[in-house]
Order: sequence, then structure tokens, then C-alpha cells
Amino acid sequence: MPDRPDLHARVVAQREQRSADAGRRTRREVLRRDGVHCEVADAQGNTRKLLNFCSNDYLGLAQHFAVVGALQDAAARDGAGAAASHLVCGHHAVHGALEREIADWLEVPRALLFGSGYLASLAVLQSLLGDDDLCVQDRLNHASLIDAARLAGCRLRRYPHGDVEGALRQLRSMAEGAAMLVTDGVFSMDGDVAPLRELAVAARVQQALLYVDDAHGIGVVGPEGRGSITAAGLDVASAPLRLATLGKALGGYGAAVAGDADLVDHLAETARPYVYTTALPPAQAAAALAAVKLARREHWRRERLQELVQRFRARAERHGLQLLPSDTPIQPVLCGSNANALAMSDSLERDGYWVAAIRPPTVPDGQARLRVTFTAAHEPVQVDALADALAVARDRAVDAASSRVA
Ligand SMILES: Cc1ncc(COP(=O)(O)O)c(C=O)c1O
Repeated sequence: MPDRPDLHARVVAQREQRSADAGRRTRREVLRRDGVHCEVADAQGNTRKLLNFCSNDYLGLAQHFAVVGALQDAAARDGAGAAASHLVCGHHAVHGALEREIADWLEVPRALLFGSGYLASLAVLQSLLGDDDLCVQDRLNHASLIDAARLAGCRLRRYPHGDVEGALRQLRSMAEGAAMLVTDGVFSMDGDVAPLRELAVAARVQQALLYVDDAHGIGVVGPEGRGSITAAGLDVASAPLRLATLGKALGGYGAAVAGDADLVDHLAETARPYVYTTALPPAQAAAALAAVKLARREHWRRERLQELVQRFRARAERHGLQLLPSDTPIQPVLCGSNANALAMSDSLERDGYWVAAIRPPTVPDGQARLRVTFTAAHEPVQVDALADALAVARDRAVDAASSRVA
């Protein structure tokens, strides 16, 4: 008989460790959503009305009548699902129309749809890199990019957050083999923007391909919301591939990889997370098409976000809350320990606000935070009230911690 570790016992031990570290994760059921207002149920089935400050629906498009209407019409016409992968019989006209609209919006030759941003990044790295190649990444890149490099089998080297010299050093460390330089455009847990112009130069001198995960930049930053690459004044020659997700500012689900025609066409024929999976439901593509059109033309949504961000930062700083340098709708409030972040999140919930606590391994140890996010549907008075409630939550958490010590 082999003497294997018991997986059930391992799972129990890991769960106990997470409990000891204030690291347990729970889900809340959303019973109803109406813009930024939602009704949620906790594990005991109690319901609460909360003002949501942790969604990625930055432009407030998820429930827009034109977006929902497009989804309903397409579902009535094409059904609930695509019925096959793109290369079999699942590629519908609306998929093609959305790919062309995204390519036109982002001013690139091609866009290719994926089931999610996670799958899209797996596809890019796996299709382009092999065992002898190098992938250099920012230390704070999204987990999907790290997983993508692992799955591609290439060498993964990371550099300190935003450190262009560090990126160059890592690229120089392995001069043979193809190389990719990979970064979030807007960092998902910090809200800051990568130094893309400088990274593009580093990539060029090291003959590496720059891939930008712009999940949180698309729709939000740059002219017409074209994202962080356009905001940095770069084009497809210096940043040949980017990820645009449809599940955040565009309010739906799915993703697109956009950029250089040869590279994108290669993905369509070879990327396993593209070839061996059912195509995005055509109704989702129709919803995204409506959302892209709104995102392109309704500049007031981005202007509103900027106004809310500046207002929040000024008030939160007056309260002495610990913010990070971010101009985007992602405004993390640092809490230090996991227990502190959970206590503040619970306290906010008691006061009617929903702000999720983000803890390691999603963020580095000792940097647990409340990831506050704004949408164009928030009102300035709601943002003021949140900043005040955060200060109260911080004070309550400090009082609770000191009474535990005493
Ligand atoms: C930076 C970043 N990249 C990729 C993803 C994955 O996108 P998706 O949710 O479409 O899988 C996310 C979000 O989950 C993200 O924050």
C-alpha cells in the first residue's frame, strides 16, 4: 500500500490555517441589484441593503437598458449559448461584429474574443512562449498572468512593482530565447498605472514583446476610454498585444485580445483556451457590442469617475486614511493586518456599505486592504458618506484592537 497524504486531512488543515490567519473567504448572495444599491444575504440568510463600493462595473453599464436590451434580443434570436467552439460552428455574426468594433475602437488591426480574461492570458502566453523562452512580469501582476506563464512552461522572472530598470535587468538575465514583457495596465489591487512608455522602450531594446493586461484600463482611461496603452501614447508597433475584458467597465462577461494581425490570427488557430472551449454566448457579445458603443461616446461617465475619485481622495486624506497613489476608480485603503481589514469591512457593512476586504495571497503579506471602487452611477454625496464611514470603521477597529490588548 502506498503511504500517501490524505487530501481530506490536508484540506481541513489548510482551512484551519486560514481561520487562524483571518484568511477565510466567504461568498455573499446578491438577491437584487439596482445600480449601486443591492440587497445581499449572509450565510445565516439575513438580508441587508447595501451601497456597493466594490464592483468593477466602472462605467455603470451592467444594467443599462441598451446593454440589457441587446442581450435579450440576441438571446431571443440566437439562443442562450453558442453551441460549439468558434472553429466548429459557434462563431456567430455578432462575435465578428464585436471583434471589428473593438479593433476599430482600440485602433488596432485585430481583436479576438475569449470566454474570459483569465482564459485570454493563458492563450497568449501558451501560444507564443515555450520551454526555452522568457516571461518577465511586474511583481504585482494579476494572478492570471502568473498562472499563464506557469502553464506556458517558460521561465518566469519578476521585477519590483513599476521598476523599469528591474524589468530590463530581468530581460538581460537571459539573452537567448524569445521574450515577453508582461504588465497590468492599471493594477487591479493598487489602481496605479504601469510606466508603459518606459516599459515599451525596455521591450524594444531587449527585442521582447510587450503584452499589457488592460482589464481595468479599458473604458476607463485614455481618450474614448481606449485604455492605458493609448493614454501612454503607444501604438500597436510598441505594444503589439493587449487584453481588454468585457466583464468590468463594459459590464458583461468575456474578453478580447487585441493588436497585431499576425499574432492575433495565430491565437485563433493555435491557442488551446480558444480552440478547445465553447464560444462566448452570442447574447453576451451583443451586450458587449452595445456597451462598447456607449463607452466610446459617453465621455461623461469617465468625467464623473474622475470627479468622484478626486472628491474621495481629498476627504479620505483629511480623515487620515491610508491611500495609495491612484487616479483610477480603484482606491485601496490600506488596513495592515487581515483582522483589521475584516473588522473594517464588517463595520462598514453595519453602516450600509459593501467594501470587500482583500487579503494575501491576492495582495502581499501585511498589506490587507479595502479595495474601494467607484462607478459612474455613484453620487458625490454617497462618496462623501463612504469616506466618513471609513474613518469611523478605522477608529472602531483601532478601539477593538486596543481593548483586546488591554
Ligand atoms: C488585471 C486582471 N486581469 C485579468 C482578469 C481576469 O479577467 P476575467 O474576470 O474576465 O477572467 C482580472 C479580473 O478578474 C484582472 O483584474
